[in-house]
Amino acid sequence: MKTQPLTGNFQEAGVDALAVTVFKDEKATGGVLKDLDKMTGGIVSSVFKNEEFKGEMGETALIRFAAKGKVKASLLLLIGVGDRADYKLPAVGNVAGTATRFLRKRNVKSFALLPRAEGDAIEIAQNAANGFVTSQFELDKYRTKDKNTKTVDNFVLCVEGVKEADLKTGLSRGVIIGESMNFTRDLANEPPNILHPTEFARRAQTIAKETGLKCDILDEAKMEKLGMGSLLSVSIGSEQPAKLIVLKYEPKKSTAKKGELIAFVGKGITFDTGGISLKPGEGMDAMKYDMSGGASVLGTMRAIGLLKPSVPVLGIVAAVENMPDGKASRPSDVVTAMNGKTIEILNTDAEGRLILADAVAYAEKQGATRIVDMATLTGAVIIALGDINTAVLGNDQELIDEIVACGREVGENYWQLPVGREYSKSIKSDIADIKNIGPARKAGTIIGAVFIQEFVDKAKWAHLDIAGTAWNDNEKPYQAKGPTAVAVRTLVRMVEKSQ
Ligand code: BES
Ligand code: ZN
Ligand code: MG
Repeated sequence: MKTQPLTGNFQEAGVDALAVTVFKDEKATGGVLKDLDKMTGGIVSSVFKNEEFKGEMGETALIRFAAKGKVKASLLLLIGVGDRADYKLPAVGNVAGTATRFLRKRNVKSFALLPRAEGDAIEIAQNAANGFVTSQFELDKYRTKDKNTKTVDNFVLCVEGVKEADLKTGLSRGVIIGESMNFTRDLANEPPNILHPTEFARRAQTIAKETGLKCDILDEAKMEKLGMGSLLSVSIGSEQPAKLIVLKYEPKKSTAKKGELIAFVGKGITFDTGGISLKPGEGMDAMKYDMSGGASVLGTMRAIGLLKPSVPVLGIVAAVENMPDGKASRPSDVVTAMNGKTIEILNTDAEGRLILADAVAYAEKQGATRIVDMATLTGAVIIALGDINTAVLGNDQELIDEIVACGREVGENYWQLPVGREYSKSIKSDIADIKNIGPARKAGTIIGAVFIQEFVDKAKWAHLDIAGTAWNDNEKPYQAKGPTAVAVRTLVRMVEKSQ
């Protein structure tokens, strides 16, 4: 896949098709739409006049015209983006993705996009390339027939009157982040017999080698030595040994304040049966995605390794399988976590928090001063926020605000839920320090967070519950259904802003 900048006239783009954004109720009486109308012999204005196309959000119209003169293209795709005021930078990515998927289906191999966006040229290009790359991911990796083999290979971005170097920079950044998101999506899409903890660790080693990250894989013996009784209580019922994946990015010259270290920690349950607190059979297959938090950590670290920001970043994935077995943990077992706290396990299906307890404590032991963990932690968050917002909770308002703000800039939605003493009280155990569930059905997402909070010492910490946002049940015009690589773009931005 190739991306190219074009700062001159769109007619110079030697491509098969042109795609242009159109605002609601626009006329073809001026600017680029007028040029396109002329190029198509008046078809654009007639399509508008006949109300075949009104520029509503998500609307598309394909116009075929006789190519003449310099213009090689004979197809023009109009893409509605709704009101001009609502057309923000992340929407450029959606437009690029929509055009890519639309044209790809029709066997088009190259096209030029006229995004007509206001703002920084690097940002416009970054969003566009990101949409171009992520829109071509498909779920059909294991099909032997009826596989999608069509691709758009060449993407030209036309923005007049800006520096070509800026477009180039943005495009290459967008490709890096987009390919990292596709890497995350491929992991989340992998069946659990293939992506078990050992394979998860191997994939981490591969990207570490490719991007120059340090990679350390802790096996169960090492975790035992470190006292990670909480994490190991989950893997004990599985034939698959747990792995703690530790990636580290070190800049050549750091601009971080002395001692400052950002850490991303992901839940990597490669399959969640619930353990002895077995889940119902119906829909259990969805639980292959229970490692999506870990997959987002790897994708984020891949992007960081390639973008090379000037601050160090730690990435940790607790890769574990949750199975029922003769050796599996029982409801009422008591285990001791790495920080010395004792946990009464009352439900073995609340396993995400058990593995994150030790992973988060380990991150802090490695020197992390800001920790963001992400996990498909609770079904409750799907009830609360659906697939639109990721829940964010934590012990530091500034960190939470930063995540929300970064999300807004890249087009990911976060919604804060509270934590607090009253909630924390409800996980006091009768016989141990804490228990891994709260009162039935009450504030499930918050209880998950305040449990993890027990394993954070002095670090600033935020928790993202991505159970609703990590997987898309429906295809979108710019995205296949399935894994979304949620949080990757947000966290990359957060790191870059910390420089
Ligand atoms: N992986 C699940 C969370 C989940 C459930 C995601 C349903 C998507 C759909 C997690 O490990 C889990 O089982 N959580 C329990 C916690 C409960 C036992 C306190 C849940 O949400 O039901
Ligand atoms: Zn789970
Ligand atoms: Mg579970």
